[in-house]
Amino acid sequence: KAAKAATNLRFNFSPVAKSTTDTLVVPEGYTARVLLATGDPIKSNVTPYKNDGTDNDFEVRAGDHHDAMQYFGMNRAGNGWDPNSSDRALLCINNEVCEDLGFVHPSGPTNYGPESTEARPAIEIDKEVAAHGVTIVEIAKQGSTYDLNRDSRFNRRITATTTFELAGPARRSPMMATAFSPSGQQTRGTLNNCGHGYTPWGTFLSGEENWAGYFNRREDDAVRTAKEVAAFKRYGIGGATSGRYNWSRADATGNTDLYKRWDVSKTASRAEQDFRNVANTFGWVVEIDPFNPNATTKKRTALGRFAHEGCWSATPVAGQPLVFYMGDDARNEYIYKFVTAAAWEPRDANRGAVAGDKYLDEGTLYAAKFNDDGTGEWLPLTLDNPNIANYASYDFADQADVVINARIAADAAGATKMDRPEWGGVNPATGEVYITLTNNVSSSNGRGVKTPLDAANPRYYAEEKETTISQGNVNGHIIRWRESDDTPAAMAFNWDVYLFGAQADAGENINLSGLTAENDFSSPDGIWFSQATPGLLWVQTDDGYYTDATNCMMLAALPGAVGDGESKMVTNKAVPSNANADQQVKTYVGQAASPTVLSRFLVGPRDCEVTGITESPDGKVIFVNIQHPGESSESVTDPAQFTSHWPDGGTARPRSATVVITRNDGGKIAV
Ligand code: FEO
Ligand code: CA
Ligand code: CA
Ligand code: CA
Repeated sequence: KAAKAATNLRFNFSPVAKSTTDTLVVPEGYTARVLLATGDPIKSNVTPYKNDGTDNDFEVRAGDHHDAMQYFGMNRAGNGWDPNSSDRALLCINNEVCEDLGFVHPSGPTNYGPESTEARPAIEIDKEVAAHGVTIVEIAKQGSTYDLNRDSRFNRRITATTTFELAGPARRSPMMATAFSPSGQQTRGTLNNCGHGYTPWGTFLSGEENWAGYFNRREDDAVRTAKEVAAFKRYGIGGATSGRYNWSRADATGNTDLYKRWDVSKTASRAEQDFRNVANTFGWVVEIDPFNPNATTKKRTALGRFAHEGCWSATPVAGQPLVFYMGDDARNEYIYKFVTAAAWEPRDANRGAVAGDKYLDEGTLYAAKFNDDGTGEWLPLTLDNPNIANYASYDFADQADVVINARIAADAAGATKMDRPEWGGVNPATGEVYITLTNNVSSSNGRGVKTPLDAANPRYYAEEKETTISQGNVNGHIIRWRESDDTPAAMAFNWDVYLFGAQADAGENINLSGLTAENDFSSPDGIWFSQATPGLLWVQTDDGYYTDATNCMMLAALPGAVGDGESKMVTNKAVPSNANADQQVKTYVGQAASPTVLSRFLVGPRDCEVTGITESPDGKVIFVNIQHPGESSESVTDPAQFTSHWPDGGTARPRSATVVITRNDGGKIAV
């Protein structure tokens, strides 16, 4: 059955050119204004951020590395969700990491990093921990734009110390037991909050992405079962490391459980500080009720544990199960969906976090298999699946073990290894589901190097740029599918590749989507479907390959539907000795991306990633996050050498920030 696409939409802006300047470029007739940057106060009694590394109170300041975000319109009573309110709202912003420490501390971090075994000043750790998590702020319409309400009772931070309830099948599992919660019901903190989603009952969902790198694992961490060792390895907590920040070794002023919990070592001498399972309490989708600051924040374990990006709901239908789509952003990982056991009752739309317990704790988790003929299947991750129950490499104890080790369960089920699943979304105009596959580059296990090419991940490329050899899928692509019978809970689907990233002049065998100078890009990452303008899609980039030609960007897109293009043979560019890339791969490509259906809307300042976008319900304002401008110069001490001073200018340290974009004539954004 032919899908309907929103073909009557037309862009109302002229595309912006690629840019390598340290400015935020938007189309003529548009204005961009910074709303909330790293360290800005979220309470009225907090002093302005000095941006010199001396402000330590991130519990009352915007966190760092702004990532995904969601606008929740507020009702007139000022106490709940109104999806149609453009006057007043809560903005929930993920603060993914705090890693550009040259900009965050007065003169860089002390005893920092996975190699260090020296104690770190607790004051530094506290600041980094508090700059992670989520920032919630109230905003109100002021003229054509929005201002922060710093007096709002809703303004708050959720950080890497906030207490979370563990909910769903892994709650009370012995695999979740820690010294903090011996019964396995709670944990402290959320980490690497990257992509997002929101529920039909008005709560914010946030994905814990690269949490695996945070833990100290000592050389003598040896007292583990074979299963524990296999699980650690599968999740990337392999050899001895102090963890990304060396957070477990605080100096004497902070020598407590709060720091020791980052040490997951299991040694004969460590029984009294038993945090060996703490890594099992990270890697989840967390649910936060923005309108109820006193509600417990929860980790929804039924949705599986991996390097979560966001969690995107299919359009809810009364009487049908709800469906949420998710990506696991690591090389050669999987795409998942969760189908609720409970059928949707629209009256739950006003119940806030209470509804989360009803829908998100019981259901079935699936992993996706993309067949080479353009069809696909959903593989259930339960012990009723014989491939999981009888898996030779790992003996699953129960469903808690399955969700905690969802990657291993998906291996057992036979899911398709993808080119780093980043963000996704459901097109309100067609019901089709999109997920970006940002890239898959590694000389050891990139696409086509060790992981075979397939129709859904068909590109291998090798090129030497300066001293770096790029090998694998360097430009990324966006896959999409249509569920059988247009039923989100279906077991099968049809897919194609909506868009392939490429340089416009790369040649038609690489530039498979026919990109032009007005819309060429690499490494799609954030994508987001407008609700105000059904059929309008935003695409954001996190590029490591095309940055010699342009800073990261955001494009507006008017996608068609699965099957509107053609099948193509891809001949891969080079054949390394260790690859199986010496083949042509047949894939399915969506319609050509002419500038009338894909147009560059924004280019960020230097060294940033453009990530996170949401809108006012009237479609007249969009909010965009600029993440880590200048990050490559964070260890430089001379401000003149910073690659970016955005947004403050002069010699300022660069900061991540939420930007508000409006049209000067007050009209709708983009179309
Ligand atoms: Fe935090 Fe996969 O982006
Ligand atoms: Ca991302
Ligand atoms: Ca990325
Ligand atoms: Ca980034």
